[in-house]
Amino acid sequence: VIFEDAKQGAIQVAHEMADLIRKKSNQGKTCVLGLATGSSPIRVYEELVRLHREEGLSFKHVVTFNLDEYHPMEKSNIQSYHYFMHQHLFDHVDIDPSNVHIPDGTIASEDVKAYCRSYEQSIEAAGGLDFQLLGIGRTGHIGFNEPGSHFNSATRDITLDHITRVDAAPAFKGLENVPRKAITMGIGTIRKAKRIVLMAWGQNKAEVIKGTIEGAMSPEVPATYLQEHENTTFVLDRESAAHL
Ligand code: GLP
Repeated sequence: VIFEDAKQGAIQVAHEMADLIRKKSNQGKTCVLGLATGSSPIRVYEELVRLHREEGLSFKHVVTFNLDEYHPMEKSNIQSYHYFMHQHLFDHVDIDPSNVHIPDGTIASEDVKAYCRSYEQSIEAAGGLDFQLLGIGRTGHIGFNEPGSHFNSATRDITLDHITRVDAAPAFKGLENVPRKAITMGIGTIRKAKRIVLMAWGQNKAEVIKGTIEGAMSPEVPATYLQEHENTTFVLDRESAAHL
């Protein structure tokens, strides 16, 4: 779906999420959301916060799982995805803190494998992801599934691509400060979601969006694996859709 601009696209995505939260809550069920960080979802979270404040949208029955976190990374660090999610969403809505799951960037390296398995199990125990929100990196990554990721990969630690670290450098005040590793949900984890919405805004994303939608499925552009998912929508603005 191509919107005139990012704002209209983001509001549409937020409204779909709000409708799902309300529908599940009316059925007495929890709504399990997979959430993303980066600049792309910021307006979505803004709109969800507005709907909470002005229209009484409640997050009491919402359970969330974030896609990824840098590793190592302290939760209090302003570059952490933990900090980002609280700043943009969790501090402003009525979500129960025990329902919030974000990969833990403080986990000791030797414990990462077991931790990733338990993250995966928590998603399954919650009933699986009803909805997964995604952005996309210039390398074609979703979450932090960099080129080379297997289509069936699970939550794991990953070495970040050079391009990804260059893109993150301004936020870290220099490439040398960008972590080299991260913990990310896998492509397989993401593809198990019942519904996926990938957002991309701006001309910087035009090339990777063309490759993702029109290119052959390949581990070189991990987002191409969404082509096989039966309920995925790409929400674009005119600029990111320019090369289609
Ligand atoms: C990071 C995140 C991704 C995100 C990507 C794009 O790499 N791990 O989940 O999609 O950045 O970020 P932006 O939305 O700022 O372009």
